[in-house]
Amino acid sequence: MLITWLDICLGALGLYLVKAILSKKPPAALPPGPKKWPFLGNILDMPSTKEWLTFAEWGRIYGDVASVTVLGRPLIILNSAKIAIDMLDKKSAKYSDRPVLPMGGELVGWKNTMILVPYGDRFREYRRYFHRLIGSRHSMEAFHPAEELETHIFLQKVLAKPADLAAHVRRTAGAIILRISHGYELQGDHDPFVDLADKATEQFSLSTTPGAFLVDVIPFLKYVPAWFPGAGFQKTAKEWSNTLKEMVDMPYNFTKQQMADGIATPSFTSNLLEGKQLSAEEEFNIKWSAASLYSGGADTTVSAIYSLFLAMTLFPDVQKKAQAEIDAVIGNDKLPKFTDRSQLPYVDSLVKEVLRWNVVVPLAIAHRVQEDDIHDGFYIPKGSLVIPNIWHMLHDPRTYPNPSEFDPDRYIGGEGKVPQQDPRTICFGFGRRICPGLNLADASVFISCAMSLAVFDISKAVENGVEVTPVVNNTPGTISHPVPFKCSIKPRSAKAAALIQQDPGHIGV
Ligand code: HEM
Repeated sequence: MLITWLDICLGALGLYLVKAILSKKPPAALPPGPKKWPFLGNILDMPSTKEWLTFAEWGRIYGDVASVTVLGRPLIILNSAKIAIDMLDKKSAKYSDRPVLPMGGELVGWKNTMILVPYGDRFREYRRYFHRLIGSRHSMEAFHPAEELETHIFLQKVLAKPADLAAHVRRTAGAIILRISHGYELQGDHDPFVDLADKATEQFSLSTTPGAFLVDVIPFLKYVPAWFPGAGFQKTAKEWSNTLKEMVDMPYNFTKQQMADGIATPSFTSNLLEGKQLSAEEEFNIKWSAASLYSGGADTTVSAIYSLFLAMTLFPDVQKKAQAEIDAVIGNDKLPKFTDRSQLPYVDSLVKEVLRWNVVVPLAIAHRVQEDDIHDGFYIPKGSLVIPNIWHMLHDPRTYPNPSEFDPDRYIGGEGKVPQQDPRTICFGFGRRICPGLNLADASVFISCAMSLAVFDISKAVENGVEVTPVVNNTPGTISHPVPFKCSIKPRSAKAAALIQQDPGHIGV
């Protein structure tokens, strides 16, 4: 290493002193927060895991808008949905950029996917495509057959091997997304596209982990050539960039080939390519936005659906109530479909509660501020990162009394009972960066709930004659999952088993 940590610290200290001398007095104070130390700011206060818990604590101490400073950059933490809407939604022109991440974004290339694409023309083009194809419940209807078919296959896999629940949930999420994004049908349990996409998304997490790469602290290191001593990150970045490129190109080329052969099933990609002469720029945008579907969609739905099984294991009365509704409306001769949804208000509330109780993306994805702002009297400087603490918003007892209780009835009104806020107005984020896959996510969670509860009884596993009660705990990270747990999944009756085993059909042209 030619550059040592001492050099870096001295360099940063020098920059800090120059900046402190030259900088103008700010027009107002930053939002309150833990004491900021000269040069270090709040680096020592930053939690190393499950940041949402510490951020919620700061909310209790400093109020719904708090701030810390890390390496000279303010982080603005929002602990109430109202403030998140006032800031990120109502002033979205200033608050819709994403942070620049030298390793994951620039060197590996994730800045070309929608999650990290800077706010600008390319961002708007991606969003237009998403909006056209999966932007409303109505446009999602075209993909309901794919959702129903893959969820039926999921039931069959769970029936055959209930102990592999987590793997089946993961496979199904990948299968649904690849059908929708590229009209691709999985080949067996170890599909090359799914394996590649899972590898790429894992590398996304590694490459965007704060503090994992020095180049994220000193961005000019990205110009250091790979042969330079200590520049091993360049080799890693190249390798990961190749995985990402393959993940983007392979399914795209598959769809183009299917279209050329006249056998493509309708998908996000085929729809955007159909009968058009495209510029290189347009082709790039279609290819990368289709890949964004996978990278944004697979792991998130996995977390939500896995948590449904956890909740049903722990809250048997809720399960029974949902099953009673399904039995009354649909009977037990067929599986539920999307067309039944309007008649299943309790199951619909259960979907909401799944999205609240287990918070899939607890801190959303940071929004970067593009212009100085004064909000509620606080100074929000350009370049700050705004972090909505979605976990706290969905577990705030002011909005959701007894937040750790799984209770779908909280959304059902009645005499003198006002329904609690629909968590879907919070869990998908805010403003122009709100999750563009929210209708797809909502559809996937609904159909999994309805079909699984129609045919399975989910309960605590029994080991050596003793019931095992799973512990509710979530993994750290941008996308948070319930930690693996055991449960028992059995068909509700011989008739239910027969229904599961029926031919799920197929989708073709
Ligand atoms: C339960 C499921 C899901 C949850 C809870 C969820 C939640 C979120 C959240 C909180 C954000 C950040 C919003 C913000 O910055 O304010 C986000 C962004 C995003 N989500 Fe989802 N999501 C889910 C499923 C999906 C699905 C199925 C897709 C794909 C179709 C998807 C694609 C994306 C993309 C591409 C972004 C980045 C948007 C942008 O930066 O403009 N998500 N999601």
